[in-house]
Amino acid sequence: MTELLELLTVARTAGQQAATWVKDNRPPGRVGIAATKSSPTDIVTELDRRSEELIREIILSARPLDGFVGEEGQDVAASSEVTWVVDPIDGTANFVYGIPAYAVSIAAVIDGVSVIGYVVNIASGEEFGAIRGGGAWQWLGSETNAAREKLTGPPATSVDQLLVATGFNYDANVRRHQVTALALLLPQIRDIRRVGAAALDLVAIARGQVDAYVEQGLKPWDLAAGQVIATEAGLVLSGYDGPPDERLVMAARPDIAEEYFALIRACGF
Ligand code: IPD
Repeated sequence: MTELLELLTVARTAGQQAATWVKDNRPPGRVGIAATKSSPTDIVTELDRRSEELIREIILSARPLDGFVGEEGQDVAASSEVTWVVDPIDGTANFVYGIPAYAVSIAAVIDGVSVIGYVVNIASGEEFGAIRGGGAWQWLGSETNAAREKLTGPPATSVDQLLVATGFNYDANVRRHQVTALALLLPQIRDIRRVGAAALDLVAIARGQVDAYVEQGLKPWDLAAGQVIATEAGLVLSGYDGPPDERLVMAARPDIAEEYFALIRACGF
């Protein structure tokens, strides 16, 4: 049986090195766009690519039999039970524009389930981790033995008072649909936040900086690490009618989860 703490240590080593490298190599001002992907708004920079290469190299030299799925590169099939799911810079648009909300996101997945998650905000250096069944926390220093603060999610709030984090897909048709659903949701809650990095949104609900989350169109690398961090902080995550997936991801405290999820479905997400 794979030792989960060992996986988290590998993730943190790779994540810290990639975050430092990206921070040190980010040019001042606006970063150049190397290419676009699924749509003209779906951008990638040379630093995304090189950050992913660095993470892949560190992880696969420590664990050569594992698989690897990254946002920017070619997948490596696993010869062990573990596959790594990595977003080398989640929040690429923020990174390009110099808005300090972009992150390295690394998860280890076994049998389709994220068993550890590691997210570091590259600009601030704040680091978050979780082990499935072992809790979620923020490290209070960069050392291996740094003190950790447990993440326990937001305090109780009624659905009409929720601050809801969300994001928009790169596909223009999905965006039209999201905005229509959002127009119905917004008058029924406190407000929304669109920070621009799904991994940081899921960390934000784990930290209690927002009350709930909804997004459509997330890819596995946007979701995998934040999902285990939010779940271990006590949140319930769901998809439209099953586990969270590209169709829909919703997250809320257990006491209001069903009411909130029903509202999201009723709004047409
Ligand atoms: C994006 C961000 C954004 C979310 C998009 C993601 P990327 O990831 O997480 O917040 O709304 O759906 O694709 O492209 O910046 O790595």
